[in-house]
Amino acid sequence: MARRKLILDVDTGTDDAVAVMLAALHPALDLVGCTTVNGNVEVQYCTDNTLRVLDHVGRPDVPVHEGLARPLVRPDFPIPRAVRDLAGQIHGRTLPVPLSARRKADASAVEFLIETYRSTTDEITLVPVAPLTNIAAALTLYPRLVDRVPEIVIMGGGHEIGNITPSAEFNIWGDPEAAAIVFAAKFRKITLVPLDATHRALVSYDDCERLRALGTPAGRAAADFIGHRIQVHDEIQRMAVAGTTPVHDAVCVGYLVDPAIITTRRLHVAVETTGTLTVGRTIIDTHFRGGQEPQCDVAFEADARRFMALLLETFAR
Ligand code: BDR
Ligand code: CA
Repeated sequence: MARRKLILDVDTGTDDAVAVMLAALHPALDLVGCTTVNGNVEVQYCTDNTLRVLDHVGRPDVPVHEGLARPLVRPDFPIPRAVRDLAGQIHGRTLPVPLSARRKADASAVEFLIETYRSTTDEITLVPVAPLTNIAAALTLYPRLVDRVPEIVIMGGGHEIGNITPSAEFNIWGDPEAAAIVFAAKFRKITLVPLDATHRALVSYDDCERLRALGTPAGRAAADFIGHRIQVHDEIQRMAVAGTTPVHDAVCVGYLVDPAIITTRRLHVAVETTGTLTVGRTIIDTHFRGGQEPQCDVAFEADARRFMALLLETFAR
């Protein structure tokens, strides 16, 4: 069977790193490239981390294209120091894997996205797991992107849960105007994986030990990244079950090879860009009050066992 092609847009990041390894190593996936964007850390560190992680798991062939260093509109970014400190605790600036010997690709992320989708007849799934700045910029320059992308799978938003404010999730809050552009664009298929789903696929210290016991570079690195996340979450943003963490971005990649990892509902999603208390909130119309045609398949559930089984099976390679 043909492998499923994808491009991952990341702000690597401890959970992005697990997503990158899953996309790079699963035999049913063909990771065409990674693009990076301002988010968990400044974009140059996201790029450096992405290169490190790919090389560490033996995929120095996957190009990394650096993207935008600022949100589309907001002057008060890069993300304020207090927030960076929070993200910094969860992600650190530089991931604990060796420095890459190579450089980022010459073409910028936005150039790469446009040129790839303009020139290919292949179906390449687009998977942004970071603020949506690169995707909105590419859409603005090349509106036909919506026809060229067979499916866009976004990690972002939250209905019951916020993480960066009581109301908003980090990726959408990090560039709300970009997110509003992406959700309003007429993509053929949008799958949204918000916090409501990722907080169902919690990974524990025991799971980390099972990953470490695989003895592979990916297994050990995943155990380190996830173990660090658990420690910080327990301190500053404890999950429903102590000693666990979501690994948000990897759930999106998991869905590509095992769709049953998430359970979705087809709903309309919009993004708040002006609310003083609610900026960056995803307005998910769960009760069809807005009268707008649903345009997203929104995940509300995730299967933690299936997700963990996939990580173990893939990182054993
Ligand atoms: C999202 O925000 C980032 O900190 C993570 O990498 C993930 O993409 C979760 O809210
Ligand atoms: Ca991310």
